[in-house]
Amino acid sequence: MTKKAIILAGGAGSRLFPLTKIVCKQLLPVYDKPMICYPLATLMLGGLRDVMIISTPKDCPMLRDYLGDGSQFGIRIDYAEQAKPGGIAEAFLIGEKFIGKSGACLILGDNIFYGKLDFFRDALALKSGACVFAYQVRDPERYGVIEFGPDGRAISLEEKPKEPKTHFAVPGLYVYDDQVVDLCKTLKPSGRGELEITDLNLLYLKKNQLQVKGLSRGMAWLDTGTQTSLLEAGNYIATIEHRQGLKVACLEEIALRMRFISLAQLEKTIEQLPKGEYREYLRMVSEEGPATGPEPAG
Ligand code: DAU
Repeated sequence: MTKKAIILAGGAGSRLFPLTKIVCKQLLPVYDKPMICYPLATLMLGGLRDVMIISTPKDCPMLRDYLGDGSQFGIRIDYAEQAKPGGIAEAFLIGEKFIGKSGACLILGDNIFYGKLDFFRDALALKSGACVFAYQVRDPERYGVIEFGPDGRAISLEEKPKEPKTHFAVPGLYVYDDQVVDLCKTLKPSGRGELEITDLNLLYLKKNQLQVKGLSRGMAWLDTGTQTSLLEAGNYIATIEHRQGLKVACLEEIALRMRFISLAQLEKTIEQLPKGEYREYLRMVSEEGPATGPEPAG
């Protein structure tokens, strides 16, 4: 089933105030590029090329100014407004027309994944049902928390429980089949007045149509929700980039390597970029061409 992709990039940004007084959270820097590049890179690496970005009426124009219609990356980006933070699952109601009869994948605009993305590509290949992921964290009470039965299947899901049953958090990356919009229409706002993504996942769980894939320890799922975690995420990206001399989530590079754009298109983009380190990096990418080096192991 084809899948449309949504990046939810709204919210009040209150936890990061005053950083978010003028600029929305998803445009704050994570080391050398705005945060939204990371979730968009994840979607592109999953092979998704039809993307809708949902944000606040104030921030949508800024995000559009930055990413445009996506053609420079060989993808299509639409924008839609969420009038107020009505919950993560509201994204599917806002995106109903965009999703049409397809399935849909949702990523939160402040979630960063780094590592081998096979788990995501496998989830996208599912023919029906939904798939979410589980990642061990120290502080599960900040997230959706998942509990497993003895056979390894999910048996419960709770949103920010005071006493979490496990250390497995559900990251902000979700894959759904074509039932998603209709199921969202049956959701009722929670005590905090939001359509909860955890309630949507519970509907799939009750129908026995929720798959949960564990993310390996070798994957990094980084949080940017507090000043400290934002700084730590930036330091993590800087460390990897300095070690390898390669950029994480460089959208033009990913577009070339995924063959969404041609070398000629990349060169045209480079000519329009200001002189500087980012342009020099893309120049190196374009001189190397789309695929180089040995076959990666594993
Ligand atoms: O990061 C993963 C976690 O994301 C999951 O484990 C939780 O189950 C899920 O509820 C969510 O928890 P958060 O506490 O991170 O949710 P928050 O309300 O902060 O929203 C996450 C992002 O989505 C945030 O950057 C703002 C955006 N957002 C959120 C809401 C509720 C919107 O754009 N619109 C909204 O209505």
